[in-house]
Amino acid sequence: MSWGLSNRLNRVLPGLASGTGSVMFAIDHGYFMGPTTGLEDPKKTIVPLLPHGDSLMLTRGILKSCIPKECKLPIVLRVSSGNSILNDDMSNEKLCVSTEDAIRLNASAVAFSIYVGAEYEHQTLVEFSKLINEAHRYGIPVLAVTAVGKNMDRDLRYLSLASRIAAELGADMIKTYYCEDFSRLVNVCHVPVVIAGGKKIPEADALQLAHNAISDGAAGVDMGRNIFQAESPSDMIQAVRSVVVEGVSPEDAYKNYKSSLR
Ligand code: R5P
Repeated sequence: MSWGLSNRLNRVLPGLASGTGSVMFAIDHGYFMGPTTGLEDPKKTIVPLLPHGDSLMLTRGILKSCIPKECKLPIVLRVSSGNSILNDDMSNEKLCVSTEDAIRLNASAVAFSIYVGAEYEHQTLVEFSKLINEAHRYGIPVLAVTAVGKNMDRDLRYLSLASRIAAELGADMIKTYYCEDFSRLVNVCHVPVVIAGGKKIPEADALQLAHNAISDGAAGVDMGRNIFQAESPSDMIQAVRSVVVEGVSPEDAYKNYKSSLR
């Protein structure tokens, strides 16, 4: 790994060096979901939350139009797209942002979705591999966003299949979903694994999810809806951070969260 790639990776996931988890704040949902609840006005709702994240995952459109130029967070730029929630099969994605543009936008990493077991599996895996060739030429780490076919359970079997394939193809970090026996998935990947939060669940459950993932070896969370759709997004990102980075128990983090609402 080149010094530049290693340095960028450690800025995106600072917990790798400090031995804690890291908080990647994900707000890229609009690339296929449009005006997602909580992200309608990112300048107003998201910018105040930035000081509490370690890195920010988003599209180039929102980066350019809504994120202040003085933003200090390392940017994880989504570079795959080509689909919307209107399609039954969501896997028809390709590389849509050049590495040149990622560099121009000062991205610290790029993120690409692979769809293992889905209709366009082959296309996404080949495009992903080509992205790695290109991004690594410039020392830019690649985050694999793993998805599995629409009829497959998000369980250890399929999630570890998708995650290990991503690692074999050269991913520098992997985003997947938490599942039973998650530590077994982490153990077969050999690169840092972060978990997505998934659909909005009660805040106490989201904090427990974050705790379980870190306890099972995740390098952090790549969390979006459970932060920006929380009753108080600002308090929620701080609660997530307390669990993931400071090791606060999910029960105490939830108590702190509830008391900060009053
Ligand atoms: C999903 O397509 C996006 O890549 C999200 O960044 C990712 O799923 C994390 O967001 P959430 O915690 O809302 O699932």
